[in-house]
Amino acid sequence: MKNSLFFILLACATLSSCSNKTESEDKSAEVDNTPLEEQAVFGTYQGNQVLEYKLTNQNGVEVKVINYGGIITSILTPNKEGVLEDIVLGYDTLSGYLKDSPYFGALIGRYGNRIANGRFELDGEVYVLEQNNNGQHLHGGLVGFDKVFWNIKELSSEDGSALELTYSSKDGEEGYPGELDVKVIYTLTDDNELMVEYEAETSKMTVVNLTQHTYFNLTGNVKGDILGHHLKLEADGFLPVDENLIPTGEIQPVKGSPFDFMSEEVIGKRINNDDQQLTYGMGYDHCWVLNPADSLKLAATLYEPTSGRVMEVFTTEPGIQFYSGNFLDGSLIGKDGVKYAHRTGLCLETQHFPDSPNQPQFPTVVLNPDEIYRSKSVYKFSVK
Ligand code: BGC
Repeated sequence: MKNSLFFILLACATLSSCSNKTESEDKSAEVDNTPLEEQAVFGTYQGNQVLEYKLTNQNGVEVKVINYGGIITSILTPNKEGVLEDIVLGYDTLSGYLKDSPYFGALIGRYGNRIANGRFELDGEVYVLEQNNNGQHLHGGLVGFDKVFWNIKELSSEDGSALELTYSSKDGEEGYPGELDVKVIYTLTDDNELMVEYEAETSKMTVVNLTQHTYFNLTGNVKGDILGHHLKLEADGFLPVDENLIPTGEIQPVKGSPFDFMSEEVIGKRINNDDQQLTYGMGYDHCWVLNPADSLKLAATLYEPTSGRVMEVFTTEPGIQFYSGNFLDGSLIGKDGVKYAHRTGLCLETQHFPDSPNQPQFPTVVLNPDEIYRSKSVYKFSVK
């Protein structure tokens, strides 16, 4: 059924996070608007239907997405015995996401991560944003891209079946300048890759840092915490933070510290070490500075020994926030009635650095009206 939707999509998409419009070329060519059979009503919010869409591939891998927040509600992948299980945290119903969700599975914008004191200056003008996290601005504010309706169109490509999500953010929304038109494409390939491609254009000079906030737990159906997962990060440095989790501005070498994931390490091994950065983060909640590369590069490898599941994360972004689910405390009851206890999920958020609008030494997050913001991340699932 879905094969009828296939079309040529982003086969050789430009991977730079921001490039001049004249160089850009939208390779997508929609062939069919017919809703997928699997599309199901997930709930109603503000009088609008929230629909759930399903991507599948020839290996039985399945990704579900809703048009509220662009949220990935589930990802089924096989373990080493071939048993398909869900590897992401979330809720069975919309009410969970509406009531209390620490950004489970959501698209994050306009700015993933924190901006100090919710303020920044751009082109001589001071912009004041919502201070929704200890006096800091976090993940786009009170109504970030995780809490808005996205238009969804089914696409298909030579890479696999895909969903195109679009959202137009008004000039001044959550305090940010410029009307921002955003497009995100989720594609599931037959190589068990979930590709996430982001594009944005603005009417005025602005700042943009988009990411995806899925909480992973590779045990499958959350059989325990993530402390036994093994992690490797392609980064020799990370960004130390202050007590409000705002980067101090330095890049600190990881070598010999609990932040050293240059070789595969068990996450729980050093997470409770007596270390000021771990105290500030209540565990890992930091941005690692990825070793530079010109295009899509391996950023992280996550492995869970009991299931044999492996997830590799590739990105065009300069950084990755590894958040070890420190604020999960058992109060949220997720899918299948599972209690999300401390550190039962982890996020690997590909992104530009936190607080970049106030830290000119960091790679720029400024987007001008004659440019297109582009970013791509790939989550590849396998077993060993
Ligand atoms: C941040 C955490 C925050 C969490 C919210 C992460 O991206 O780094 O500090 O608590 O999002 O769920």
